[in-house]
Amino acid sequence: MKRSLGVCYYPEHWPEEIWALDAQQMVETGLTWVRIGEFAWSRLEPQPGQFDWGWLDRAIATLGTAGLKVILGTPTATPPRWMLDKYPDMLARNSAGEVRKFGSRRHYCFSHAAYRDEARRITRLMAERYGAHPSIAAWQTDNEYDCHDTAISYSAHAKHAFQDWCAQRYQSPQALNAAWGNVFWSMEYDSFDQLDLPNQTVTEPNPSHVLAFRRFSSDQVVLFNRVQCDEIRKYSDRPIIHNFMGRITAFDHYDLGADLDISSWDSYPMGFLLDRVGADETAQAHYLRQGDPDFQAFHHDLYRATSSGRWWVMEQQPGPVNWAPWNPAPLPGMPRLWAWEAFAHGAETVCYFRWRQAPFAQEQMHAGLLRPDRSPAPALAEAAQVAKELAEVPDVGTAKAPVALVFDYDSAYAWESQPQGADFDYFQLVFDCYRALRRAGLSVDVVPKSVDPSAYEITFAPGLLTVPESLQGGLVVAGPRAGSKTEEMTIPDGLGPDITGLSTKVTFVESLPPFAPMTLAGGGAFIKWREALETTDTVILHLEEGAPAAVRNGQMIYIAGWPDAAGWRRILEMLAEQAGLDLMDLPPDLRLRETDSHRFWFNYGPRTVTYQHITLPAAAVHWEANNANRKLWTDGRWARGSKNFPAL
Ligand code: GAL
Repeated sequence: MKRSLGVCYYPEHWPEEIWALDAQQMVETGLTWVRIGEFAWSRLEPQPGQFDWGWLDRAIATLGTAGLKVILGTPTATPPRWMLDKYPDMLARNSAGEVRKFGSRRHYCFSHAAYRDEARRITRLMAERYGAHPSIAAWQTDNEYDCHDTAISYSAHAKHAFQDWCAQRYQSPQALNAAWGNVFWSMEYDSFDQLDLPNQTVTEPNPSHVLAFRRFSSDQVVLFNRVQCDEIRKYSDRPIIHNFMGRITAFDHYDLGADLDISSWDSYPMGFLLDRVGADETAQAHYLRQGDPDFQAFHHDLYRATSSGRWWVMEQQPGPVNWAPWNPAPLPGMPRLWAWEAFAHGAETVCYFRWRQAPFAQEQMHAGLLRPDRSPAPALAEAAQVAKELAEVPDVGTAKAPVALVFDYDSAYAWESQPQGADFDYFQLVFDCYRALRRAGLSVDVVPKSVDPSAYEITFAPGLLTVPESLQGGLVVAGPRAGSKTEEMTIPDGLGPDITGLSTKVTFVESLPPFAPMTLAGGGAFIKWREALETTDTVILHLEEGAPAAVRNGQMIYIAGWPDAAGWRRILEMLAEQAGLDLMDLPPDLRLRETDSHRFWFNYGPRTVTYQHITLPAAAVHWEANNANRKLWTDGRWARGSKNFPAL
């Protein structure tokens, strides 16, 4: 597939006289896509029912005439100020019950039905007007659902919608009481309208209540998005995209992605490193100007799984951002590397954010491809280089990865509702496993729990709340905490793990503070979490003190703790031969991604790295034909690769 580049542009921020020059320079840089419109509601409908489409007509015409393909965003992340006069109660409330006011963006509650109708209305008007326009080549719905923690609202509208949601799910208050165990602390309800949201309780709320509320909140986001998709599809056959964010577990991206044609996400590697990766200070210092070597790749692999497999990077960091605690500049080469990494993971298109740095408002300190004075910022030349390389490089293939890693949003909600240890974080658990797989040189498919394990050499499912019957038929590594609860967040009859094929019970669990890991016999350790087992399955790993640490029955393996990096490595080594996987031991800064046509190497480090035949300077990427004797997934099975690719 031919890959392409684009950019995010805000014609409403600039004098009309320079739009044509901007468009021309975008084309000269080698960009083919331009995203516009997603925050422009106050300029499209300055007063309720009074529209000014003229400027947008002209902007689209200018960009289209220059040869650019336009992605048009619906402006629903920024309702104009007059909307609040109409609906003063449309604002979301945080868990303290405080209003999240006007004056930035994303100031709406997903459960406010009248605002949802306003979003439907403006979407319909845009789709009617531009749906068949020859220059409109794709749509973006809203902008980054849940950015700034906005998916979860504790408003009165949310409360009433939650009561309805519970009435539909449980049918009777008695069934709800039974499902949640509300006999505990006399929390029983007689009717659904007594039900409140799980905030501001004296001590912690019932985790089943929280889990239900999190599922409900996710459904509200999915509904809000679906309303827009339905309107667009009435008038337009162009693909619909939404731009997800990094480390967001407030809604189910698989559910939402099912309504999209293309998933995309916004990748800010250096901002993320300092504000959400969870790296320690040494790692932050080492990767300060490059970003974490696995965080971007993880999201590429995750979001690839959330729609039909088509995915983009809608916003790519070009230079310093404005929103992290500190905002350094990338090493020269990183804006190019990040784009190539996305292509190596299957992205169709990477759009840089943004064309020109704004001289005003919240993001005036955020770099663009151009400086505010219109001259080139450092990333412009890198974007041009990537565009040139894309034109020269033969198509970048995609490939099924040999190993799968389950990521499940219900599990994220569940362990947030009752972590049982201060640092038990589901995202972190899955991400640790991902990092270990990547250090071993493996390409990974992140998958939903409905995956068929027979299609992979190994499927990993750490921390999976409930383990479906369908997770059988291939080598599966589950645990810790997998299958330890029912769908309603109670302990299953007969104890967990509730996993078909295992004759193992968890008799008790311990969460472990950072200073008290438990060593595994032979190397590695459990950190944060360990479980005591009663088992007749084969014990394949022990704690140093003698207790079972991992068991196996046929193709099912259960790990009774949270392995550290050395622990994951040992588990991989135990399974590699049977799974037919060749493990590498990559230097910490080097990463590899294989497609059916290429093998890509990325140096995320600040210094030159040497490994096998590869010598890569800092921030460099290298690709070569993937004609190694590797295994390929063809005709429903793995076989040694027979494809021969021309040398590059
Ligand atoms: C994204 C957002 C953009 C812009 C950018 C700045 O989260 O979608 O509108 O704010 O961050 O880095």
